[in-house]
Amino acid sequence: MNTQPVLALDNVTVAYHGDITILNGVSIQARRGQVTGIIGPNGAGKSTVLKTLFGFLPLRGGRITLDGRDISRQPAHQRAESGVAFVPQHRSLFGELSVEDNLLLGCWPFRRDKARVRRRIDSVYARFPILAQKRNDPVSSMSGGQQRFVEFGRALLNEPEVILLDEPTAMLAPKISKELYALIRGFADEGMTVVLVDQNVRRCAEISDYLYILELGRNKAEGGRDQFHEEGGLRDMVASWMDYKID
Ligand SMILES: Nc1ncnc2c1ncn2[C@@H]1O[C@H](COP(=O)(O)OP(=O)(O)O)[C@@H](O)[C@H]1O
Ligand SMILES: [Mg+2]
Repeated sequence: MNTQPVLALDNVTVAYHGDITILNGVSIQARRGQVTGIIGPNGAGKSTVLKTLFGFLPLRGGRITLDGRDISRQPAHQRAESGVAFVPQHRSLFGELSVEDNLLLGCWPFRRDKARVRRRIDSVYARFPILAQKRNDPVSSMSGGQQRFVEFGRALLNEPEVILLDEPTAMLAPKISKELYALIRGFADEGMTVVLVDQNVRRCAEISDYLYILELGRNKAEGGRDQFHEEGGLRDMVASWMDYKID
């Protein structure tokens, strides 16, 4: 792993308000063409890491770089324009609006370029045929998994270099989760930089090239996929810390 990371969090400290820090010197590096997985118990700060990477929370210390440039003080909309996309943990769609209208809203940064808007939305329909079928339906009438496809589609509209995904398969049926994991792996294989926070340790370890384990707002351990799968290695440590059964 000697290539420069695309996105890096370097010794970052973050608080929501007051003096209670939630992240205490967290460092994470995400590389092109890879899935970088982040796992850890509830409350470890995983969602906070993604919100911080996207620019929703100010840094108290440390820095964030994108392609080697310091973006620590850049607001979220500029990070989006620089090629970072975020699919948050909780649903972020306008339920009463149609699929197409939700996608149109995702084209806001380049709304004046009508040809590009059409091209990008059509490319999402090509990738997710179910969304083309349901383009005029209100999003609230769709299943949880289909709504995730809309969110993934919206994230892809601006042709991001980096995609941040927060528990994308939480509370979804195994069949649709499997499809989503295949898509996520595909994003990396197409050359995107994927940061995946996941509650499903086993699946996350399967599709991640590199894994970080957080605990109480700190780095607890990290390692490549192989280290995770070795008997007696990272896998067993994680199983015992997190009280997870990993088969
Ligand atoms: N909006 C908020 N305001 C204050 N504290 C928060 C907020 N969101 C999360 N926290 C706290 O930050 C810590 C980390 O939360 P979070 O990043 O959501 O963890 P995870 O995603 O790993 O479950 C928790 O102690 C949580 O209570
Ligand atoms: Mg979370």
